[in-house]
Amino acid sequence: MSRIATIEIDGKKYEFPVIEVTENELAIDIKTLRAVTGGVTTIDPGYKNTGSCESAITFLDGEEGILRYRGYSIEELAEKADFLEVAYLLIFGELPTKVELEKFHSDIKGQAIVDEDIKKIIDGFPKAAHPMGVLSSLTSALVAFNPTSVNVDSEEEMYNAIVRILGKFPVLTAWAYRKQAGLPLDYGDNSLGYVENFMKMMFKKPTEEYECNPVVVDALDKLLILHADHEQNCSTSTVRIVGSSNAGLFVSLSAGINALWGPLHGGANQAVIEMLEAIKEDDGDTKKYMAKAKDKSDPFRLMGFGHRVYKNFDPRAKIIKVSADKVMHELGVEDPILEIAKGLEKEALEDKYFVDRKLYPNVDFYSGIIYRALGIPTDMFTPMFALGRLPGWIAQWREMRQRKEPIGRPRQVYIGETYRPFKKVEDR
Ligand code: ACO
Repeated sequence: MSRIATIEIDGKKYEFPVIEVTENELAIDIKTLRAVTGGVTTIDPGYKNTGSCESAITFLDGEEGILRYRGYSIEELAEKADFLEVAYLLIFGELPTKVELEKFHSDIKGQAIVDEDIKKIIDGFPKAAHPMGVLSSLTSALVAFNPTSVNVDSEEEMYNAIVRILGKFPVLTAWAYRKQAGLPLDYGDNSLGYVENFMKMMFKKPTEEYECNPVVVDALDKLLILHADHEQNCSTSTVRIVGSSNAGLFVSLSAGINALWGPLHGGANQAVIEMLEAIKEDDGDTKKYMAKAKDKSDPFRLMGFGHRVYKNFDPRAKIIKVSADKVMHELGVEDPILEIAKGLEKEALEDKYFVDRKLYPNVDFYSGIIYRALGIPTDMFTPMFALGRLPGWIAQWREMRQRKEPIGRPRQVYIGETYRPFKKVEDR
């Protein structure tokens, strides 16, 4: 039997269908609300209760700690797949066959050269520019070098645009870092895997060969998989809404990068390390910071703990903690910051305040630790997140365009002045 939701306004009842979808989630379909009620709207700041679209890409259940891409659990994907397989899965909906995966990788490699003129743009940035700003600008600039707009009804054109950005984005990310580090820009090596190649482009010094450590490559690959999509978060919603005006893929992605830059979103991994550094400067007194986090008159929060959606645990954090331990062991990292992190984690997991509120370390707590162990500077953490999130953004943009979703244009509830007659400047 189909379900109905009834809204009563001033004694008049309006009925709306309740849709039940694949994971038994219920949603009230209010598409006709304004038409039938004569202009009544809904208000939901931050869209905490509002589905902006129907999507078949990522399923997330924050209460149960479930995250699945196209139906596959994040745990299984992180263990058994590599980042490019996951990217293909997210974007095209199915795991690739061996032949499809090889072609995908080979097509991406074929696009891994950016126009030499991009270097002139990079040269124009000050060395101290934040790499997220550089990355979003360069991603927009790609349009100038690839000006033909993509016919979204053509699978072939769509595919070509997708491999183009997947090929060029790691180059731009690595170059944003090298500019900052004062290193000459490095070209990739197509004999390497996607992640190894990225590592080489980031870290190879002109004076010596670069050898990739497989433990590091594996940890980074997993991190990228864990960040690859997270349904309608701030940056993904941005990509969809920008694309809904029929703006192209690259500029929609550039908008997503800017949304991710914010400290309330992708910037949290950076905030974790900054907090740990502050604790170190304060004689490593974790107890003091635990007390501050619990003190309601103190705005301080333990960065890297708690999550808006995951209220039991962050499934990504469980996976990445194991990788973080492996990386630190493999690299023999001895860093007082990492010792502080371990101490804080142990204390918080045993503390009644954190246990009662179900505040567990989130993915950003451990990702920051891994990046730091790899020698990646703090302000490159968010670009690393962007590299991981890229397939998710692409998948969501493609889905939105293929479903021919209407332009995103939220309503508002106006709270300003009512009509008032204009006064000439001399009468004000
Ligand atoms: N440290 C101390 N107390 C906390 C923390 C924290 N990190 N997080 C939540 N709390 C407390 C709150 O004070 C509140 O306590 P109360 O019930 O006594 O008032 C309770 O836990 C619930 O907190 P809310 O703010 O309601 O939780 P919300 O879901 O709104 O916030 C958020 C989630 C923003 C992630 C929060 O936990 C936080 O600020 N964490 C630190 C920042 C962080 O790590 N962000 C990264 C998230 S992961 C990601 O974005 C990929």
